[in-house]
Amino acid sequence: MNNLQDTYNRIHNYLRISLTDSCNFRCLYCMPEENMQCLSQKDLMHPQEIFTIAQTFVDYNVNKIRLTGGEPLVRHDFSEIVQCLAQLPVKLTLTTNGVLIHKYVDLFKNVGIKSINISIDSLNESTFKSITKRNALSQVWKNIHLLVKENFHVKLNVVAMRGINEHEITDFVNLTYSLPLQVRFIEFMPFSGNRWEKNRVLTTTEMLHNIEKHFSIVKLQDSIHNTAKKYQVLGSKGTFAFITTMSQPFCSGCNRMRITADGKMKNCLFGKEEFDILGELRAGRNIKPVIENCVYKKHKKMGRQFQNFKNLNPNHLENRSMIKIGG
Ligand code: GTP
Ligand code: 5AD
Ligand code: SF4
Repeated sequence: MNNLQDTYNRIHNYLRISLTDSCNFRCLYCMPEENMQCLSQKDLMHPQEIFTIAQTFVDYNVNKIRLTGGEPLVRHDFSEIVQCLAQLPVKLTLTTNGVLIHKYVDLFKNVGIKSINISIDSLNESTFKSITKRNALSQVWKNIHLLVKENFHVKLNVVAMRGINEHEITDFVNLTYSLPLQVRFIEFMPFSGNRWEKNRVLTTTEMLHNIEKHFSIVKLQDSIHNTAKKYQVLGSKGTFAFITTMSQPFCSGCNRMRITADGKMKNCLFGKEEFDILGELRAGRNIKPVIENCVYKKHKKMGRQFQNFKNLNPNHLENRSMIKIGG
């Protein structure tokens, strides 16, 4: 079967599947402030549907699948989904808030998951609670250590926000000295209802200036498809990196496609267009034309709207909120 190549010659071999729009945290940058309506059980993709959809993407040479959410581990049938997907010839991985990891470490080992990304935006209990609305830092931290002990490849995602956790950037870099972690600072991105303000965006340049005052660092090689620009403190076990969506969009190397928990395909994190894969599947139709059309319609650069993010009006955003896309 042919590759999923778009009209700008980008080959799409990385699929992000959101398993749910529910979450056991309430991160301020992720979900709307007002009470959010979660999808009902019947509108979520079922395990067999997820498998059929994933298998179809594998037919198009997709070789990496990341499970996202909401929080993927809150799905009661998470183990069933992972066991099905692990049969496919792909690198299977997930992004999680980490608080339930201890319940799933054995499953991850059994199905051959080797790398896990964990969102953690503060190392301070009260800041962590003010961001997530949960007292969960110590459990998340224990779970990060558990994964390291079990030799998983662990990335920490830190959404960098001025006035909230900017004073902790160097603390996070410090972690990489003695632990084999990859810390990634993510520039705060605007989504529908997520209280984004341009003044809260800490840019990569600002963070690097700060880090360079405290550490001797080197730039590492990045692969074209990576979201992150990697660095290392000399002599350290881990690395740190920046996800520069706001200041330096990386659309030219994009190899990613997304499926929302209700089975809509998106060709871009910021694109409004959605393609109803689950609807086609449930109607008994072939989903391949929908997949091909979605890739065909991918724009060259959605991130361009952010190059002048200082002029962006967050009230004009019409995308879903992050928790409903899956990151
Ligand atoms: P790796 O596969 O380990 O490199 O992870 P990843 O960066 O692809 O995934 P992760 O779920 O850890 O996401 C980290 C951050 O990168 C999140 O804030 C995502 O929203 C962002 N991100 C992931 N894919 C894209 C993308 O295609 N475009 C943009 N702009 N951001 C992305
Ligand atoms: N800006 C940047 N990153 C975000 N994430 C969630 N919302 C935002 C946002 N507004 C990150 C989470 C998670 C990943 C999937 O996306 O921290 O690690
Ligand atoms: Fe939940 Fe992750 Fe969103 Fe936080 S970023 S509310 S942990 S889905």
